[in-house]
Amino acid sequence: MRALADDLIDLEARDLLRVRRLVGGLQGPEVELDGRQVLCFASNNYLGLAADPEVIEASMAALRDGGASAGASPLISGHMAAHDVLEREIADWLGCEAALVFGSGYHANIGAIAALAGHDDAVFSDSLNHASLIDGCRLARATVRIYDHRDLDDLEEKLHATPARRRLIVSDSVFSMDGDIAPLEGLVELAARHDAWLMFDEAHAMGIFGDDGGGLVAARGLNHGVHVRMGTLGKALGSYGAFVAGSRVLIELLVNRARSYVFSTGLPPAVIGAALAAVRIARQSSDRRDQLWRNARRLHGGLSASGLRLGPLDSTIVPVILGESKTALGVAHRALAEGLWAPAIRPPTVPPGTARLRLTPIATHDDEQIDRAVRILAHAAGEEGV
Ligand SMILES: Cc1ncc(COP(=O)(O)O)c(C=O)c1O
Repeated sequence: MRALADDLIDLEARDLLRVRRLVGGLQGPEVELDGRQVLCFASNNYLGLAADPEVIEASMAALRDGGASAGASPLISGHMAAHDVLEREIADWLGCEAALVFGSGYHANIGAIAALAGHDDAVFSDSLNHASLIDGCRLARATVRIYDHRDLDDLEEKLHATPARRRLIVSDSVFSMDGDIAPLEGLVELAARHDAWLMFDEAHAMGIFGDDGGGLVAARGLNHGVHVRMGTLGKALGSYGAFVAGSRVLIELLVNRARSYVFSTGLPPAVIGAALAAVRIARQSSDRRDQLWRNARRLHGGLSASGLRLGPLDSTIVPVILGESKTALGVAHRALAEGLWAPAIRPPTVPPGTARLRLTPIATHDDEQIDRAVRILAHAAGEEGV
């Protein structure tokens, strides 16, 4: 075990050691962190539904009705009435024939990609795709071609140069660490022209884009050009788990072949109950979504006005790119000391030299909290010489 300790020392020396923070109480605009109340701009609980009384009540009712566990994997006895209702609701929401609930977004991505592409096939993946898509590509045992971030010309070149039985293009729709958006229309067009399947990871788009929160693909009217849509239930939808939605044939194939679905216990009813309530709230009311966007604009505008260099606000994720891990850690530590939790994101989560603070406003932040976060961060960055 000495070698493991050396690995940790090495990570620390390179400012790459991770430690967990202890959150007490509910996930909200402020949280109790290691026993202290701080502003939280660190969570993907975008709509604030993780602490919503209606969602919590629905979860408790599902627990009472269905018990504490699904008891087995879905193909044995773990596919319960609650799962079926949730899958139908999601399919209806997205205007798809069917949906399949997975244990998490990570499970969904590795399961779906490896089920759709095999030995003689090729997967084309954006260079800044989420780790779960990358790992799905690794598991697929297909030829994997990484194209430059959002670069349709590079993708087209690689499509031309890569003969394969089947071709699958995979991309985040909203990129998790930059908050920028994939060239959705261009990808749909390329996929159609090159006879490829197209999969979008909508983890940071569900609940946030579209009049009914149905994600970017739906908001842009691209349902028919996208073969596989994945979304998570643990971010804007305030619960846990994920889904893949698409045609009935796709879902039946995944039920048979997605190993992370077949060989993993179904989500417990309490989680499904919370997710169902959250999906219904996100679909039916735009109040939280509108407030989230107002908050993101206020945060982005405030930080820009304070002199920090930011990219455009394409989604509700606000990254402040600082460069070296040491700088990002320094600013994050100072901000936290002043009561703002905005975690430093470092390699390998982001490319070397692009360490950043990733701020995520949520719908339940108020103006005072956002303005306080701006003041703290501007001060912390100034103190760190940014
Ligand atoms: C783009 C993206 N895809 C997939 C995931 C994985 O989802 P989950 O946390 O449900 O495993 C995440 C975040 O964790 C993500 O940001």
